[in-house]
Amino acid sequence: MAMAMSATPFLRPLSQVEFRKCPFLSSKPHFHPHLLRFHSQPTIRASSALSLDSGLSTQNDQAIKDDVFACPICYEPLIRKGPSGLNISAIYRSGFKCKRCNKFYSSKERYLDLTVTAGMRDYSEVQPARTELFRSPLVSFLYERGWRQNFRQSGFPGPDEEFRAAQEYFESSKGGLLVDVSCGSGLFSRKFAKSGSYSGVIALDFSENMLRQCYDFIKKDDTLSTANIALVRADVSRLPFSSGSVDAVHAGAALHCWPSPSNAVAEFTRVLRSGGKFVGTTFLRYTPSTPWIIRPFRERTTQGYGYLTEDEIEDLCTSTGLTNYSSKIQQSYIMFTAEKP
Ligand SMILES: C[S@@+](CC[C@H](N)C(=O)[O-])C[C@H]1O[C@@H](n2cnc3c(N)ncnc32)[C@H](O)[C@@H]1O
Repeated sequence: MAMAMSATPFLRPLSQVEFRKCPFLSSKPHFHPHLLRFHSQPTIRASSALSLDSGLSTQNDQAIKDDVFACPICYEPLIRKGPSGLNISAIYRSGFKCKRCNKFYSSKERYLDLTVTAGMRDYSEVQPARTELFRSPLVSFLYERGWRQNFRQSGFPGPDEEFRAAQEYFESSKGGLLVDVSCGSGLFSRKFAKSGSYSGVIALDFSENMLRQCYDFIKKDDTLSTANIALVRADVSRLPFSSGSVDAVHAGAALHCWPSPSNAVAEFTRVLRSGGKFVGTTFLRYTPSTPWIIRPFRERTTQGYGYLTEDEIEDLCTSTGLTNYSSKIQQSYIMFTAEKP
């Protein structure tokens, strides 16, 4: 038994494992739908439980309706062809299809691309500068190697304390599915996955390079290589999840980077189940204690980012249907939470 287990590729460190893609999937950058055949089999609800499948055969893979992933165009649950499970290897080897849009989604490199533009040949979308900045390979590389440490100067307590505080807010969501929206290089996604508190963690970002960094960090960490963590590329304003399918949404240091915070929070309201929690952190434009004379200066120096005031953040959450808003502030740092009724 022990020998059989050790021969199982998914029990080895990720760095030593060669994943085989679903044979129906092209490894070329542009995915060819005709290579993926979906048989008309009875629909089986996918389980988000950890799959330690052998990974040796895809012959028995079935087309199943995925519980969580939905088409970013029409929000219809995707049909998954490939091994089940919410781990990187299983998702990498799976193809996803929207029956309504007849659109196919697959993993580019190690993340599943669930943006509306996935698979488009000619069109590529340019987002506002505050989103594009983080798509740069250099910024993505530097992010956990000094960039984020600078946030301390604005009152951010640091990743360990931010994680501890978020975990407290997520107490009632434990055991469920957590989406770390705008995860960057996965600083918090990895902590959530390691905590063992959730049935699955989805590290989601718009930046391809941040997701590559995220994969590299996971690969170096043996304890995470078989964890229930998936990497997904998506736009926060168009979340590729079924309504009411998510237990917790975390968005660290991110709200100020989004093109439309209101669309993003509206999406959290849609995807959270009743009682599900949203926890976010961001920089405040100014706090109630900021002297009036300083405020115009803050307005000018923060123009490139969407820094909000506390009242604006509360308004965003409550106007999109979330309740039980509360927050903690330290200098320009705010951690806030709200709940899906
Ligand atoms: C400052 S980083 C935060 C990373 C991490 N959550 C943390 O706490 O350090 C902001 C992240 O927001 C992401 N982002 C910006 N616009 C986005 C969008 N439209 N959809 C999803 N993520 C976006 C960026 O790619 C970047 O990784």
